[in-house]
Amino acid sequence: MTGNSAVRMALNRALIFLGPPGAGKGTQSKRIALRCGVPHLSTGDMFRDAISRGSELGRVVQPIMERGDLVPDDLVMKMVEERLARPDSAGGFVFDGFPRTLPQAMQLDRILGKMGFGKPIVVDFSVSVDKLLRRLSGRWTCSVGGEIYNVYDAPPQKAGICDADGGKLFQRPDDRAEVVKERLAAYERQTRPLAEYYRRQGVLDTLDAAAGMEDVSRALGEIVKRAEGQNGRL
Ligand code: AP5
Repeated sequence: MTGNSAVRMALNRALIFLGPPGAGKGTQSKRIALRCGVPHLSTGDMFRDAISRGSELGRVVQPIMERGDLVPDDLVMKMVEERLARPDSAGGFVFDGFPRTLPQAMQLDRILGKMGFGKPIVVDFSVSVDKLLRRLSGRWTCSVGGEIYNVYDAPPQKAGICDADGGKLFQRPDDRAEVVKERLAAYERQTRPLAEYYRRQGVLDTLDAAAGMEDVSRALGEIVKRAEGQNGRL
């Protein structure tokens, strides 16, 4: 992180990112969670972790993710509720890839109410399909710490090796072109309607996520500061 995007900032509720595969949700949600000192909760990472551990959940979700479909709501909600029951979630959190369907969003509203949180901050990442395809085809992820790279826009210093911890980089199996097509279709069908759901609640902001990473980080920081009514410094 550089410049203003590295300044510490407060977040006392849920921050939700909407947007298609490859829009930069993972990159930005990790940065802002670090900046706010709250957990980063990625349902995609949790499922990938379950797959790599060979758990029962991993065995169920692996073929679904490899097809580019969404995991059924009941499995997603069970996993999220268990995660939110941990004490580190008590002060706020950043969701990455959740909620993704209307039933998930409605159930999350109930959970946030029970936890005593106000309305979430919801940011919709907007990027053209051409850019998404380029970003996904160039993405490499660290097998140890999950650091995200891109051969075009954010390459590691040494090809195939993570700058942060020396871990081996890998390409996600669901970034193959034919699976990306299905993921984009699932997004249009099941996730895009959430923007309207949150717009009606008056909590939706749209972000031009086609810009460079630092510019997107800065714009996102401004949205959160404005929503939290603060000057951004702890
Ligand atoms: P998930 O892991 O959530 O993937 P996704 O939403 O499809 O999003 P991606 O991780 O592909 O992209 P991203 O927006 O995070 O972009 P990133 O920052 O990596 O879900 C995977 C699967 O899990 C789903 O298909 C589904 O099966 C299942 N699943 C997960 N959650 C679920 C749920 N709630 N319900 C049901 N099923 C669920 O960036 C992409 C690349 O671009 C990187 O290389 C990055 O370096 C680069 N980049 C980022 N920002 C910029 C920028 N500003 N400029 C240039 N390059 C950039």
